[in-house]
Amino acid sequence: MSSFNIASTEFPLRNFHATPRATIGWGAYRMAGEEAKAIGIKNALIVSSGLKGTGILDEVAGVLKAAGISVSIYAGVTSNPKDHEVHAAHKVFKQNRCDGVVSVGGGSSHDCAKAVRIVDAHDGQSIREFNGMCTTKKPITVPQLAITTTAGTGSETSWAAVITDTQKMYKMVIFDPNIISSRAIVDPALMRTMPPYLTAWTGMDAMTHAVEAYVSRLGVRTSQGLGLHAIKMISRGLRDAYANPTNAEARENMAWAQYTAGHAFNSAGLGIVHSMAHTLGALFDSPHGQCNAIGLVPVERYNMVACPDKFRDIAEAMGVDTRGMTTWKAAEAAVDELEKLRADLGITETFATLGLKEEHLEKFTPVVMQDVCTLGNPRVVTPDVVKMIFRHCMAPGANGKS
Ligand SMILES: [Fe+2]
Repeated sequence: MSSFNIASTEFPLRNFHATPRATIGWGAYRMAGEEAKAIGIKNALIVSSGLKGTGILDEVAGVLKAAGISVSIYAGVTSNPKDHEVHAAHKVFKQNRCDGVVSVGGGSSHDCAKAVRIVDAHDGQSIREFNGMCTTKKPITVPQLAITTTAGTGSETSWAAVITDTQKMYKMVIFDPNIISSRAIVDPALMRTMPPYLTAWTGMDAMTHAVEAYVSRLGVRTSQGLGLHAIKMISRGLRDAYANPTNAEARENMAWAQYTAGHAFNSAGLGIVHSMAHTLGALFDSPHGQCNAIGLVPVERYNMVACPDKFRDIAEAMGVDTRGMTTWKAAEAAVDELEKLRADLGITETFATLGLKEEHLEKFTPVVMQDVCTLGNPRVVTPDVVKMIFRHCMAPGANGKS
């Protein structure tokens, strides 16, 4: 009898996913024309929320035109981008015979642009048919340059796009290597226009990416290094960027941190903080970063027991002196630090103040369970657990203590 045996563990094989080349730094947006030309764009569709009052779209359009690229604009993307916005943008793309997309904004704009590329490759088929892992059937040939203006998303570097299905009222999470943008630009100069509340929400989105990737049960070890380093950078930079939008060093730290956290979850996946945020985003149109900021503390207080050593690492990355602490005390200190950070950023809302009521839980819980991000959660979740955490997120303080 052979002694050959492959130990069967939960996820025996891991993947580290490719990311596009990114140009990062002050004034990087001025490279947009050269970068767009390098990936074959001659007639660009800018996909954006409009970024009203910032002048950023005019700047980017000007840079593209100066490089000899024709420009059309779809500026109708909203937060929690909707299926009909994807098709409206695709219509403008076709009408103007565009050959590439330039997404300018945060995750909503990048995700909408990725979805436009999917729809175009599949002859206008409804984006609602592409939920899940690796659902594209045809090559995605339309190139995308993703220019990031918020310090949270990571979407410029990820293989994910999250689009709200407005018929079934849930957020589709599309993970597909074919939809990664072709090039990325991350420019702290474009992030200075974010108001403090948006800096706080998007920064906590980045922190959630970093923490969920670090503790993910998918356990991609290269991603753990990226996640932990992002936690450190966010701990050092987010309060300063929130308190003083013109603090150049803090903005630059956050630009790198959000990009690094994006790299981390691109391979390691996320957890139920994101599953819950997706659910509230689809059903209440609640801002993604704000939902993550509320959910992070109660979820990680629940998760802590699954991997206390990792939470000790998080505490240390956040600057806690853990010498003399037991591992469990250090793990608790990590979650307390996350709670302190959220408080320092003035985020006092709960899921209840966003509109969630006890009567919603029966309907919302299965949506959380089915979200692809639930797969990465380090501690097993059941529908009863999801309901319990929802209640923690609704309670005053939303700190998971009760
Ligand atoms: Fe996120």
